[in-house]
Amino acid sequence: MDKNIWDFWANRYDRLWVQKKSLKPTREYVKDIIRKEWMEGARSLLDLGCGPGELIRSVRQDLREMAITGVDLSEGMLQVSKRTNPDSRHVLMDAEDLNELNEDYDLISCTHSLPYYRNKGKVITRIADRLKPGGKLIIAFASGNTTYDKLALSLVKLTTGPAGYPSDREFRDMVEGVFTVENRHVIRESFYMPTIAVYTLRRL
Ligand SMILES: C[S@@+](CC[C@H](N)C(=O)[O-])C[C@H]1O[C@@H](n2cnc3c(N)ncnc32)[C@H](O)[C@@H]1O
Repeated sequence: MDKNIWDFWANRYDRLWVQKKSLKPTREYVKDIIRKEWMEGARSLLDLGCGPGELIRSVRQDLREMAITGVDLSEGMLQVSKRTNPDSRHVLMDAEDLNELNEDYDLISCTHSLPYYRNKGKVITRIADRLKPGGKLIIAFASGNTTYDKLALSLVKLTTGPAGYPSDREFRDMVEGVFTVENRHVIRESFYMPTIAVYTLRRL
């Protein structure tokens, strides 16, 4: 059911109104972090829940030598990403099965995908297992911190199917013992948007 909803959005994704207020500013911020990590020596990136591959394309434009793998559960999304990013590896997979990948990465990015994972804690552990020692997770998601956030996100949920938007406290509890939080940044494009949090985490 949730997989089908993403197949439905795959060819319409670049026209969503949230591109301007949420997805694009998130991508730009995450790309800046990836660029900084590249300067520090990171050479491989897994983009988890890559969708139609917009972040992959954007990173690729700057960092041509970065080895990038996109993972997504939706075949439709992956097809679009493969067309856009023919030189990146793509794997059709549920985030909960990341242990089946036979590679470890310097960086894992995950933007606006965590809310849709049924067992978020399990995915966080899987991500940590796929990172090289000292590797980093850059994760962004709409975060239900305030009553307004929760109200706004209940409307978003109507277009995505089942979702859970962790608050800052819930997310920190989720990653405790697995990651250390290096940074948290909030993207604020408009007063009416819910909190969009971007965390940079280092594997413990
Ligand atoms: C809102 S889109 C985000 C796409 C892209 N990362 C972005 O920031 O624009 C959510 C993506 O997460 C993927 N997704 C949802 N549940 C997933 C799961 N359990 N495993 C892997 N991908 C999943 C969906 O197929 C969809 O492509």
